[in-house]
Parts: sequence; C-alpha cells; structure tokens
Amino acid sequence: MRILINAGPTREKIDPVRFISNRSSGKMGYSLAEAAVALGHTVTLVSGPVCLARPEGLHKFLSIESAEEMARVMKEEFPSCDLAILCAAVADYRPVHPRGQKMKKGEGNLFLELERTEDIALSLGKMKKPGQTLVGFAAETEDLEKNALSKMRKKNFDFIAANQVGLPDRGFASNDNAVTLYRADGTKKELSLKSKKELAGELLQEILR
Ligand code: C5P
Repeated sequence: MRILINAGPTREKIDPVRFISNRSSGKMGYSLAEAAVALGHTVTLVSGPVCLARPEGLHKFLSIESAEEMARVMKEEFPSCDLAILCAAVADYRPVHPRGQKMKKGEGNLFLELERTEDIALSLGKMKKPGQTLVGFAAETEDLEKNALSKMRKKNFDFIAANQVGLPDRGFASNDNAVTLYRADGTKKELSLKSKKELAGELLQEILR
C-alpha cells in the first residue's frame, strides 16, 4: 500500500531570523512512518523541521518549512497514495507581511497581523477519491470527543486519532501518547498510554484492518 504521512510543525516567517511555530516534535508521525515501512508499505514522509533521524527504508522523504510548502507538497503527493495520515501540526496563521530584513526593536508594543493558512486536511478531504483513506489527528485541551468528531466530519476523514494535550505525561514533545481512534462509522477504539512507537503499530493495525 502507498502511504503518505506528514509530521512535525511548520514555521511561518516573521523576518529572516524569527518565525511562528508550535511544540510538535514530529515523533508520532515519524513512528507511524517507521511502523508502516516495517510492515512493507511504500511510505512517503513529508516533514516540517524536527530533530529526528530520517526513518530508513522510505520511498520518499520531503522536507518543508512553511504551511504553504506543506500544502503544495501534500496536494501533489495525495492523488498517488492509498492512505494518508495527517500528523503534522500545521500553523493555522502566518504573518501577512514577512519582512525581508531583521526587524528592529522599538519602545512600544508590536502588533503582527496574521492571516489564515490553508487547511490542508480540508483540501485533501475534498480531493479524496473512492478507495483512498484519510486519517487525521486532533489535539485538544478540552471537549476532546466533540471536537474530534466534528473535525472528522468537516474534513471528510475516515478516521481521527484524538489526543488530549496539556497533560505532562503525553502528547506533543513526550515519547508517550494515548489516543482514541474514531471511525467515520461511529465506532471507536481506545489506545491506552504507551510509547509513540508502540502506539504507531497499534494505530496502523486498526486503520489497515
Ligand atoms: O482543525 P485542527 O487543526 O485541529 O485539525 C487537526 C487535523 O487537521 C490534523 O490532522 C492536522 O494535520 C490537520 N491540519 C491541516 N492543515 C491545517 C491545520 C490542520 O492539515 N492548516
């Protein structure tokens, strides 16, 4: 099976030395890519800037920085995959006017105008053809189930893996995670707290079942 996975954060440029980003480490997406390679699948990994070794045995590794680049690469790669898993923490906003030169500090406050980035998952959900499976992630600090289910519907996902963030023992930079995997048919599977590597194997097994 041809599997496309995105991982890590994006960086949205403010000036040549500053950017807006988030706490995504890329560990969940990289673990999924490794697990998929180990199962013998043809895996393309599209990655934002992370401090992780590139998994061995990938079909393709594409490195991107901004949400705009991530959107372009994902829309190019999506039509030729059977399964796409969207683990990347794509920035929702970017500076409207990134500066060409380093900004100088002044005395007063600074206001940055931000604009929405493309919701890549939403775009891929609209492109999805019969036979393709689209899996999203939802990181929430509250109302996990309600938010996850509404995202799955809105973005035309077949599955959504929902995890609670803001807890010290799981999520973002942690090596461990726990998720609830919801299917579009309304059923769900709880995957308890474990290493992201183990969790990746279980998640793939459930998705490919
Ligand atoms: O709406 P929210 O960002 O919480 O949805 C999370 C899901 O949507 C994740 O699978 C994430 O990779 C994807 N996403 C995206 N493009 C964005 C924002 C989120 O693909 N701009």
